[in-house]
Amino acid sequence: MRLMTENKRFAVVPAGRRSGKTELAKRKLVMELPKKKPWSDARYFAAAPTRDQAKRIFWKDIKALTPGKWVKKVFETDLCITTVFGSELWVAGLDKPQRIEGTPWDGGVLDEYANMRPTAWSENIRPALSDRGGWCWFIGVPEGLNHYKDLFDYASSGADPDWGAYTWKSSEILPADELESARRVLDQRTFRQEYEASFEGAAGRIYYAYDPKRHENGPIRAIPTLPVLICCDFNVDPCVWEVAQTDGRTVWVIDEILLRNTNTVEMGKEALSRYGGHKAGAIIYGDAAGMNRSTAGKSDYALLYELGFRDQRIKKANPNVKDRINALNAMLENTAGEARLFHHPRCTALRKDFEAVEWREGGRDINKSNPLLTHATDALGYFMEYEFPLRAVRFDPGKRFYK
Ligand SMILES: Nc1ncnc2c1ncn2[C@@H]1O[C@H](COP(=O)(O)OP(=O)(O)OP(=O)(O)O)[C@@H](O)[C@H]1O
Ligand SMILES: [Mg+2]
Repeated sequence: MRLMTENKRFAVVPAGRRSGKTELAKRKLVMELPKKKPWSDARYFAAAPTRDQAKRIFWKDIKALTPGKWVKKVFETDLCITTVFGSELWVAGLDKPQRIEGTPWDGGVLDEYANMRPTAWSENIRPALSDRGGWCWFIGVPEGLNHYKDLFDYASSGADPDWGAYTWKSSEILPADELESARRVLDQRTFRQEYEASFEGAAGRIYYAYDPKRHENGPIRAIPTLPVLICCDFNVDPCVWEVAQTDGRTVWVIDEILLRNTNTVEMGKEALSRYGGHKAGAIIYGDAAGMNRSTAGKSDYALLYELGFRDQRIKKANPNVKDRINALNAMLENTAGEARLFHHPRCTALRKDFEAVEWREGGRDINKSNPLLTHATDALGYFMEYEFPLRAVRFDPGKRFYK
Protein backbone atom coordinates (compact mmCIF):
# COMPACT_ATOMS: atom_id res chain seq x y z
CA MET A 1 0.00 0.00 0.00
CA ARG A 2 2.74 2.38 1.01
CA LEU A 3 4.63 1.77 -2.19
CA MET A 4 1.59 2.48 -4.35
CA THR A 5 0.35 5.51 -2.42
CA GLU A 6 3.38 7.40 -1.09
CA ASN A 7 4.42 8.34 -4.61
CA LYS A 8 8.07 8.79 -3.79
CA ARG A 9 10.07 9.77 -6.83
CA PHE A 10 12.53 6.93 -6.23
CA ALA A 11 11.37 3.69 -4.64
CA VAL A 12 13.75 0.90 -3.66
CA VAL A 13 11.81 -2.33 -3.36
CA PRO A 14 13.72 -5.45 -2.36
CA ALA A 15 11.03 -8.02 -1.60
CA GLY A 16 10.71 -11.79 -1.50
CA ARG A 17 10.47 -14.05 -4.53
CA ARG A 18 7.05 -14.42 -6.17
CA SER A 19 5.63 -11.76 -3.92
CA GLY A 20 4.16 -9.45 -6.54
CA LYS A 21 6.97 -6.95 -7.13
CA THR A 22 6.83 -7.17 -10.88
CA GLU A 23 3.05 -7.34 -10.88
CA LEU A 24 2.79 -4.05 -8.96
CA ALA A 25 5.34 -2.48 -11.26
CA LYS A 26 3.35 -3.42 -14.35
CA ARG A 27 0.24 -1.83 -12.89
CA LYS A 28 2.12 1.28 -11.87
CA LEU A 29 3.48 1.69 -15.40
CA VAL A 30 0.17 1.16 -17.14
CA MET A 31 -1.63 3.53 -14.76
CA GLU A 32 0.85 6.27 -15.64
CA LEU A 33 -0.02 6.13 -19.33
CA PRO A 34 -3.10 8.41 -19.34
CA LYS A 35 -1.57 11.00 -16.99
CA LYS A 36 -1.47 14.55 -18.34
CA LYS A 37 2.02 16.03 -18.72
CA PRO A 38 3.29 19.41 -19.90
CA TRP A 39 4.64 17.58 -22.95
CA SER A 40 2.76 15.44 -25.42
CA ASP A 41 5.01 12.39 -25.47
CA ALA A 42 5.37 11.07 -21.92
CA ARG A 43 7.74 8.08 -22.02
CA TYR A 44 8.08 5.19 -19.59
CA PHE A 45 10.36 2.18 -19.48
CA ALA A 46 10.09 -1.32 -18.06
CA ALA A 47 13.65 -2.58 -17.86
CA ALA A 48 15.45 -5.76 -16.84
CA PRO A 49 19.12 -6.77 -17.03
CA THR A 50 18.74 -8.13 -20.57
CA ARG A 51 16.27 -7.53 -23.37
CA ASP A 52 15.21 -11.18 -23.42
CA GLN A 53 14.53 -11.07 -19.73
CA ALA A 54 12.64 -7.79 -20.01
CA LYS A 55 10.53 -9.16 -22.81
CA ARG A 56 9.76 -12.33 -20.89
CA ILE A 57 8.94 -10.49 -17.66
CA PHE A 58 6.93 -7.57 -19.01
CA TRP A 59 5.83 -7.62 -22.58
CA LYS A 60 2.82 -9.96 -22.71
CA ASP A 61 1.43 -8.76 -19.39
CA ILE A 62 1.80 -5.10 -20.18
CA LYS A 63 -0.02 -5.58 -23.47
CA ALA A 64 -2.75 -7.48 -21.64
CA LEU A 65 -3.05 -4.90 -18.90
CA THR A 66 -3.29 -1.88 -21.18
CA PRO A 67 -6.94 -1.30 -22.07
CA GLY A 68 -7.49 -1.72 -25.80
CA LYS A 69 -9.04 1.69 -26.25
CA TRP A 70 -5.89 3.35 -24.84
CA VAL A 71 -3.64 1.71 -27.40
CA LYS A 72 -2.66 3.55 -30.53
CA LYS A 73 -0.09 1.14 -31.84
CA VAL A 74 1.93 -1.83 -30.63
CA PHE A 75 5.46 -2.17 -32.00
CA GLU A 76 6.32 -5.82 -31.56
CA THR A 77 9.95 -5.63 -32.62
CA ASP A 78 10.71 -2.50 -30.62
CA LEU A 79 8.69 -3.75 -27.65
CA CYS A 80 6.88 -0.44 -27.46
CA ILE A 81 3.26 0.57 -26.97
CA THR A 82 2.08 4.03 -27.98
CA THR A 83 -1.20 5.31 -26.61
CA VAL A 84 -3.96 7.63 -27.73
CA PHE A 85 -2.83 9.99 -24.95
CA GLY A 86 0.52 10.37 -26.71
CA SER A 87 2.41 8.47 -24.05
CA GLU A 88 4.72 5.53 -24.77
CA LEU A 89 5.75 2.48 -22.81
CA TRP A 90 9.02 0.77 -23.73
CA VAL A 91 10.24 -2.63 -22.61
CA ALA A 92 14.03 -2.59 -22.63
CA GLY A 93 17.08 -4.55 -21.55
CA LEU A 94 20.11 -2.91 -19.99
CA ASP A 95 22.39 -5.06 -22.10
CA LYS A 96 21.68 -2.25 -24.58
CA PRO A 97 21.73 0.85 -22.36
CA GLN A 98 21.84 3.08 -25.44
CA ARG A 99 18.10 2.55 -25.71
CA ILE A 100 17.63 4.28 -22.38
CA GLU A 101 20.38 6.84 -22.62
CA GLY A 102 19.98 10.09 -24.46
CA THR A 103 16.18 10.28 -24.42
CA PRO A 104 14.22 11.96 -21.63
CA TRP A 105 12.03 9.66 -19.56
CA ASP A 106 9.05 10.40 -17.32
CA GLY A 107 9.61 7.31 -15.30
CA GLY A 108 10.33 3.62 -15.28
CA VAL A 109 11.02 0.41 -13.48
CA LEU A 110 14.29 -1.47 -13.12
CA ASP A 111 13.47 -5.11 -12.40
CA GLU A 112 16.01 -7.56 -10.94
CA TYR A 113 18.04 -4.50 -10.06
CA ALA A 114 20.60 -6.48 -8.03
CA ASN A 115 21.72 -8.11 -11.28
CA MET A 116 22.29 -4.88 -13.14
CA ARG A 117 25.63 -3.21 -13.40
CA PRO A 118 26.03 -0.70 -10.57
CA THR A 119 26.81 2.03 -13.08
CA ALA A 120 23.62 1.46 -15.09
CA TRP A 121 21.74 3.72 -12.73
CA SER A 122 24.27 6.45 -12.11
CA GLU A 123 25.61 6.74 -15.64
CA ASN A 124 22.80 5.73 -17.95
CA ILE A 125 19.47 6.11 -16.28
CA ARG A 126 19.67 8.85 -13.67
CA PRO A 127 20.75 11.50 -16.22
CA ALA A 128 17.89 10.52 -18.53
CA LEU A 129 15.38 11.25 -15.76
CA SER A 130 16.63 14.77 -15.14
CA ASP A 131 14.85 16.71 -17.91
CA ARG A 132 11.37 15.68 -16.85
CA GLY A 133 11.82 14.96 -13.18
CA GLY A 134 11.23 11.29 -13.96
CA TRP A 135 10.60 8.64 -11.33
CA CYS A 136 12.14 5.21 -10.91
CA TRP A 137 11.40 1.98 -9.07
CA PHE A 138 14.19 -0.46 -8.21
CA ILE A 139 12.68 -3.88 -7.68
CA GLY A 140 14.14 -7.34 -7.19
CA VAL A 141 15.51 -9.68 -4.55
CA PRO A 142 18.81 -8.92 -2.81
CA GLU A 143 22.02 -10.47 -4.07
CA GLY A 144 24.67 -10.14 -1.40
CA LEU A 145 25.92 -6.83 -0.13
CA ASN A 146 26.09 -5.11 -3.49
CA HIS A 147 24.92 -1.81 -5.00
CA TYR A 148 21.27 -2.75 -4.38
CA LYS A 149 21.90 -2.77 -0.65
CA ASP A 150 23.69 0.59 -0.84
CA LEU A 151 20.68 2.07 -2.55
CA PHE A 152 18.28 0.46 -0.08
CA ASP A 153 20.32 1.79 2.86
CA TYR A 154 20.29 5.25 1.37
CA ALA A 155 16.55 5.15 0.79
CA SER A 156 15.86 3.78 4.28
CA SER A 157 18.02 6.34 6.02
CA GLY A 158 15.36 8.99 5.43
CA ALA A 159 18.08 11.50 4.60
CA ASP A 160 16.62 12.18 1.16
CA PRO A 161 12.87 12.87 0.94
CA ASP A 162 12.80 11.87 -2.75
CA TRP A 163 13.60 8.29 -1.80
CA GLY A 164 11.42 5.61 -0.23
CA ALA A 165 12.33 2.10 0.90
CA TYR A 166 9.81 -0.75 0.79
CA THR A 167 10.26 -4.39 1.61
CA TRP A 168 8.15 -7.43 2.37
CA LYS A 169 8.59 -11.14 2.70
CA SER A 170 7.16 -13.79 0.39
CA SER A 171 5.29 -15.21 3.38
CA GLU A 172 3.03 -12.17 3.30
CA ILE A 173 1.83 -13.15 -0.18
CA LEU A 174 2.55 -16.80 -0.94
CA PRO A 175 0.57 -19.68 0.53
CA ALA A 176 2.24 -21.29 3.53
CA ASP A 177 2.66 -24.71 1.91
CA GLU A 178 4.48 -23.17 -1.04
CA LEU A 179 6.91 -21.53 1.37
CA GLU A 180 7.41 -24.75 3.26
CA SER A 181 8.29 -26.57 0.08
CA ALA A 182 10.88 -23.90 -0.77
CA ARG A 183 12.22 -24.04 2.77
CA ARG A 184 12.77 -27.79 2.49
CA VAL A 185 15.07 -27.55 -0.51
CA LEU A 186 16.95 -24.32 0.18
CA ASP A 187 19.74 -23.68 2.62
CA GLN A 188 18.96 -21.07 5.26
CA ARG A 189 20.96 -18.23 3.83
CA THR A 190 19.46 -18.63 0.37
CA PHE A 191 16.00 -18.88 1.85
CA ARG A 192 16.47 -15.64 3.80
CA GLN A 193 17.80 -13.88 0.73
CA GLU A 194 15.22 -15.09 -1.76
CA TYR A 195 12.08 -15.32 0.34
CA GLU A 196 12.69 -12.77 3.05
CA ALA A 197 14.53 -10.19 0.94
CA SER A 198 17.43 -10.19 3.35
CA PHE A 199 20.76 -8.72 2.29
CA GLU A 200 23.06 -11.55 3.23
CA GLY A 201 26.77 -11.01 3.55
CA ALA A 202 28.29 -13.26 0.97
CA ALA A 203 31.95 -12.73 1.71
CA GLY A 204 33.83 -15.56 3.33
CA ARG A 205 33.44 -19.31 2.95
CA ILE A 206 31.09 -20.47 0.24
CA TYR A 207 30.28 -23.85 1.78
CA TYR A 208 29.59 -22.38 5.19
CA ALA A 209 27.38 -25.27 6.25
CA TYR A 210 30.24 -27.74 5.94
CA ASP A 211 31.63 -29.26 9.12
CA PRO A 212 33.99 -32.24 8.86
CA LYS A 213 32.67 -33.59 12.15
CA ARG A 214 29.31 -33.89 10.54
CA HIS A 215 29.96 -34.54 6.86
CA GLU A 216 33.09 -36.69 6.97
CA ASN A 217 32.22 -40.30 7.51
CA GLY A 218 34.87 -43.02 7.82
CA PRO A 219 32.68 -46.10 7.45
CA ILE A 220 31.33 -45.11 4.00
CA ARG A 221 31.80 -48.00 1.56
CA ALA A 222 30.80 -48.43 -2.06
CA ILE A 223 27.36 -50.02 -2.26
CA PRO A 224 27.54 -52.79 -4.89
CA THR A 225 23.94 -52.40 -6.05
CA LEU A 226 24.19 -48.66 -6.80
CA PRO A 227 26.12 -47.28 -9.79
CA VAL A 228 29.22 -45.22 -9.13
CA LEU A 229 28.83 -41.61 -10.23
CA ILE A 230 32.03 -40.14 -11.54
CA CYS A 231 32.00 -36.35 -11.32
CA CYS A 232 34.55 -34.72 -13.59
CA ASP A 233 36.20 -31.36 -13.88
CA PHE A 234 38.78 -31.16 -16.64
CA ASN A 235 41.83 -29.51 -15.28
CA VAL A 236 45.47 -30.38 -15.80
CA ASP A 237 47.28 -29.75 -12.55
CA PRO A 238 45.75 -30.94 -10.37
CA CYS A 239 42.83 -32.75 -11.92
CA VAL A 240 40.28 -33.86 -9.34
CA TRP A 241 37.28 -36.12 -9.84
CA GLU A 242 34.87 -37.17 -7.13
CA VAL A 243 33.18 -40.56 -7.05
CA ALA A 244 29.76 -40.64 -5.46
CA GLN A 245 26.71 -42.81 -4.97
CA THR A 246 23.15 -41.92 -4.20
CA ASP A 247 19.89 -43.59 -3.29
CA GLY A 248 18.05 -40.58 -4.67
CA ARG A 249 17.99 -38.77 -1.34
CA THR A 250 21.38 -38.98 0.30
CA VAL A 251 24.69 -38.66 -1.51
CA TRP A 252 27.83 -40.46 -0.35
CA VAL A 253 31.13 -39.38 -1.86
CA ILE A 254 33.12 -42.59 -1.60
CA ASP A 255 36.33 -41.74 -3.38
CA GLU A 256 38.44 -39.08 -5.02
CA ILE A 257 40.74 -39.35 -8.01
CA LEU A 258 43.47 -36.76 -7.95
CA LEU A 259 46.39 -36.67 -10.38
CA ARG A 260 48.94 -33.94 -11.00
CA ASN A 261 49.99 -32.93 -14.49
CA THR A 262 47.60 -35.25 -16.19
CA ASN A 263 45.00 -35.50 -18.92
CA THR A 264 41.53 -36.88 -19.48
CA VAL A 265 42.68 -40.28 -20.74
CA GLU A 266 44.96 -40.86 -17.74
CA MET A 267 42.18 -39.83 -15.38
CA GLY A 268 39.74 -42.08 -17.19
CA LYS A 269 42.13 -45.03 -16.99
CA GLU A 270 42.57 -44.47 -13.28
CA ALA A 271 38.79 -44.42 -12.83
CA LEU A 272 38.57 -47.60 -14.89
CA SER A 273 41.17 -49.39 -12.79
CA ARG A 274 39.27 -48.53 -9.63
CA TYR A 275 35.68 -48.95 -10.78
CA GLY A 276 35.79 -50.74 -14.13
CA GLY A 277 34.58 -53.88 -12.37
CA HIS A 278 31.77 -52.25 -10.43
CA LYS A 279 28.72 -54.43 -11.02
CA ALA A 280 26.08 -51.69 -11.05
CA GLY A 281 28.03 -49.66 -13.59
CA ALA A 282 29.36 -46.13 -13.76
CA ILE A 283 27.82 -42.83 -14.81
CA ILE A 284 29.80 -39.79 -15.86
CA TYR A 285 28.80 -36.25 -14.81
CA GLY A 286 30.77 -33.07 -15.25
CA ASP A 287 31.68 -29.77 -16.75
CA ALA A 288 29.75 -29.00 -19.95
CA ALA A 289 32.88 -27.32 -21.32
CA GLY A 290 34.34 -30.81 -21.73
CA MET A 291 31.95 -31.31 -24.66
CA ASN A 292 33.74 -28.82 -26.84
CA ARG A 293 37.29 -28.71 -25.69
CA SER A 294 39.35 -31.36 -27.35
CA THR A 295 42.55 -33.26 -26.92
CA ALA A 296 43.77 -34.70 -30.22
CA GLY A 297 40.55 -33.65 -31.93
CA LYS A 298 38.23 -35.45 -29.52
CA SER A 299 36.18 -34.00 -26.72
CA ASP A 300 36.86 -35.07 -23.16
CA TYR A 301 33.60 -36.96 -23.10
CA ALA A 302 34.33 -38.70 -26.39
CA LEU A 303 37.60 -39.92 -24.90
CA LEU A 304 35.81 -41.22 -21.83
CA TYR A 305 33.24 -42.89 -24.05
CA GLU A 306 35.99 -44.73 -25.88
CA LEU A 307 37.35 -45.94 -22.57
CA GLY A 308 33.98 -47.53 -21.93
CA PHE A 309 32.16 -44.84 -19.97
CA ARG A 310 29.04 -44.86 -22.11
CA ASP A 311 26.53 -43.48 -19.64
CA GLN A 312 27.19 -39.74 -19.56
CA ARG A 313 24.87 -37.13 -18.10
CA ILE A 314 26.11 -33.75 -19.12
CA LYS A 315 24.12 -30.59 -19.64
CA LYS A 316 24.38 -28.72 -22.93
CA ALA A 317 25.51 -25.66 -21.03
CA ASN A 318 26.81 -25.33 -17.51
CA PRO A 319 24.40 -24.13 -14.87
CA ASN A 320 24.80 -20.76 -13.32
CA VAL A 321 27.62 -20.88 -10.73
CA LYS A 322 25.19 -19.86 -8.02
CA ASP A 323 22.84 -22.74 -8.85
CA ARG A 324 25.69 -25.18 -8.52
CA ILE A 325 26.75 -23.74 -5.18
CA ASN A 326 23.21 -23.58 -3.86
CA ALA A 327 22.62 -27.21 -4.78
CA LEU A 328 25.73 -28.27 -2.85
CA ASN A 329 24.96 -26.09 0.15
CA ALA A 330 21.41 -27.36 0.35
CA MET A 331 22.72 -30.93 0.45
CA LEU A 332 25.18 -30.01 3.20
CA GLU A 333 22.31 -28.59 5.20
CA ASN A 334 18.78 -27.71 4.19
CA THR A 335 16.58 -25.32 6.12
CA ALA A 336 15.14 -28.17 8.12
CA GLY A 337 18.69 -28.70 9.42
CA GLU A 338 19.27 -32.04 7.68
CA ALA A 339 22.56 -33.06 6.07
CA ARG A 340 22.24 -35.28 3.00
CA LEU A 341 25.81 -35.24 1.71
CA PHE A 342 28.65 -37.21 3.30
CA HIS A 343 32.17 -38.03 2.19
CA HIS A 344 34.88 -40.52 2.98
CA PRO A 345 37.99 -39.10 4.73
CA ARG A 346 40.10 -40.08 1.70
CA CYS A 347 38.41 -37.26 -0.26
CA THR A 348 40.92 -34.75 1.04
CA ALA A 349 40.70 -32.25 -1.81
CA LEU A 350 36.94 -32.14 -1.38
CA ARG A 351 37.27 -31.47 2.34
CA LYS A 352 39.80 -28.74 1.69
CA ASP A 353 37.49 -27.11 -0.84
CA PHE A 354 34.52 -27.21 1.49
CA GLU A 355 36.61 -25.60 4.20
CA ALA A 356 38.56 -23.07 2.20
CA VAL A 357 36.83 -22.02 -1.02
CA GLU A 358 35.74 -18.41 -0.69
CA TRP A 359 33.77 -15.82 -2.58
CA ARG A 360 35.56 -13.33 -4.69
CA GLU A 361 35.30 -9.74 -3.54
CA GLY A 362 31.72 -8.64 -4.06
CA GLY A 363 30.36 -12.12 -3.47
CA ARG A 364 29.20 -12.89 -6.99
CA ASP A 365 31.74 -15.47 -8.08
CA ILE A 366 34.11 -18.11 -6.80
CA ASN A 367 37.59 -16.98 -5.82
CA LYS A 368 39.81 -19.05 -8.11
CA SER A 369 43.14 -17.50 -7.18
CA ASN A 370 44.47 -20.66 -5.51
CA PRO A 371 45.09 -23.19 -8.33
CA LEU A 372 44.83 -26.12 -5.92
CA LEU A 373 41.30 -25.30 -4.82
CA THR A 374 37.77 -25.42 -6.31
CA HIS A 375 38.19 -28.42 -8.65
CA ALA A 376 36.65 -30.96 -6.28
CA THR A 377 33.62 -28.86 -5.42
CA ASP A 378 33.21 -27.81 -9.06
CA ALA A 379 33.20 -31.46 -10.12
CA LEU A 380 30.73 -32.50 -7.44
CA GLY A 381 28.63 -29.41 -8.06
CA TYR A 382 27.93 -30.33 -11.71
CA PHE A 383 26.52 -33.66 -10.56
CA MET A 384 24.58 -32.11 -7.73
CA GLU A 385 22.99 -29.48 -9.91
CA TYR A 386 22.07 -32.15 -12.44
CA GLU A 387 20.44 -34.57 -10.02
CA PHE A 388 19.43 -32.36 -7.07
CA PRO A 389 18.71 -28.94 -8.56
CA LEU A 390 16.94 -26.24 -6.62
CA ARG A 391 13.83 -25.34 -8.50
CA ALA A 392 11.94 -23.83 -5.67
CA VAL A 393 8.89 -22.22 -7.19
CA ARG A 394 8.11 -22.40 -10.85
CA PHE A 395 6.38 -19.69 -12.75
CA ASP A 396 2.79 -20.80 -13.22
CA PRO A 397 0.98 -18.87 -15.94
CA GLY A 398 -2.28 -20.55 -14.88
CA LYS A 399 -2.14 -18.68 -11.63
CA ARG A 400 -2.37 -15.12 -12.88
CA PHE A 401 -4.87 -13.24 -10.84
CA TYR A 402 -5.97 -10.47 -13.16
CA LYS A 403 -7.60 -12.69 -15.75
N1 LIG B 1 -1.34 -9.93 -4.53
C1 LIG B 1 -1.35 -11.00 -5.31
N2 LIG B 1 -2.30 -11.93 -5.19
C2 LIG B 1 -2.33 -13.02 -5.96
N3 LIG B 1 -1.42 -13.28 -6.92
C3 LIG B 1 -0.42 -12.41 -7.09
C4 LIG B 1 -0.34 -11.21 -6.29
N4 LIG B 1 0.74 -10.51 -6.70
C5 LIG B 1 1.29 -11.25 -7.69
N5 LIG B 1 0.59 -12.36 -7.94
C6 LIG B 1 0.91 -13.41 -8.92
O1 LIG B 1 1.99 -14.12 -8.34
C7 LIG B 1 3.00 -14.40 -9.31
C8 LIG B 1 4.27 -13.72 -8.92
O2 LIG B 1 4.14 -12.31 -9.03
P1 LIG B 1 5.31 -11.43 -9.57
O3 LIG B 1 5.89 -11.98 -10.83
O4 LIG B 1 4.88 -10.02 -9.59
O5 LIG B 1 6.32 -11.66 -8.36
P2 LIG B 1 7.82 -11.16 -8.21
O6 LIG B 1 7.92 -10.71 -6.80
O7 LIG B 1 8.17 -10.21 -9.27
O8 LIG B 1 8.56 -12.55 -8.38
P3 LIG B 1 10.07 -12.85 -8.84
O9 LIG B 1 10.89 -12.65 -7.59
O10 LIG B 1 10.02 -14.28 -9.26
O11 LIG B 1 10.42 -11.86 -9.92
C9 LIG B 1 2.46 -13.88 -10.63
O12 LIG B 1 1.86 -14.94 -11.32
C10 LIG B 1 1.44 -12.84 -10.22
O13 LIG B 1 0.46 -12.69 -11.20
MG1 LIG C 1 9.66 -10.26 -10.69
